[in-house]
Amino acid sequence: MKLIDGKEIAKQLKEEIKIEVAEILDSGVDGPHLAAILVGNDPASETYVASKEKACKNAGILSSVYRYPSNISEKELLEAIDFINSDPEINGLLVQMPLPKHISEDKVIEHINPEKDVDGFHPLNLGKMVMNKATFIPATPYGIVQLLERSKIETQGKHVVVLGRSNIVGTPISILLSRKSKNANATVTLCHSRTQNLKEICLQADILIAAIGQPEFVKEDMVKEGAVVIDVGIHRIESASSPKGYVIKGDVAFDEVSKKASWISPVPGGVGPMTIASLLRNTLMAYKAQQKH
Ligand code: GUN
Repeated sequence: MKLIDGKEIAKQLKEEIKIEVAEILDSGVDGPHLAAILVGNDPASETYVASKEKACKNAGILSSVYRYPSNISEKELLEAIDFINSDPEINGLLVQMPLPKHISEDKVIEHINPEKDVDGFHPLNLGKMVMNKATFIPATPYGIVQLLERSKIETQGKHVVVLGRSNIVGTPISILLSRKSKNANATVTLCHSRTQNLKEICLQADILIAAIGQPEFVKEDMVKEGAVVIDVGIHRIESASSPKGYVIKGDVAFDEVSKKASWISPVPGGVGPMTIASLLRNTLMAYKAQQKH
């Protein structure tokens, strides 16, 4: 069994971005600028946004965070997005999810200028992805593609089984890996809560991607000998025996599944570190596309 080292691969990706940003800045022009909107003070969202800010800083990318209280109206939030949409000095914009219940996430996403939509959540960008046109690929699926590619794991002609059909992971990764392209060309089965014979389908997977949101859902008897296993889950499980009072688990029962897998991504240290690297890449892409205007 070999570990898919997300930490190391993310480091490489971030280094590549940092070099490119440094070249831009050395030429004497303004570099890329990412804006994040944070509504309320959900602790997980605060942590994500702080990590994004830190990663931007390390890569030489300018970052701004616009904070609003959780009682901001939908109209006011849309106006804040308008303001950033029309600011030529900001290249990328993300609105941290989840949003308070009285605000429509769909409306917010559709309000973001698609050219600044570095999350790749806007319907126009998702449509382009489906049609295999250049666009922003959402961070987690892009991270998975990079993990496979940079670990030199062949996807062409392979049977990929994806567990979970979320808008931000399961659905886009199933589309990406089935597209006609060098690092894809897989035969993909997308499984979900209504799938019958789930175990039998998982056992056919050359590459199994678990994004189901249930701790240690994938057990050893669901995995073919020699399969590649990508674990997208991240769960904090209370544990009296751990000094922190909790342990981090993925969607895969790592100890048992790792005995059968040829490659496996750990949690933490697998898919997680890749997402921010993907966001930086999208921000750089947005910047470069906007220089051509
Ligand atoms: N909340 C959890 N993941 C994400 C993400 O990738 N982007 C945004 N905007 N919010 C999130």
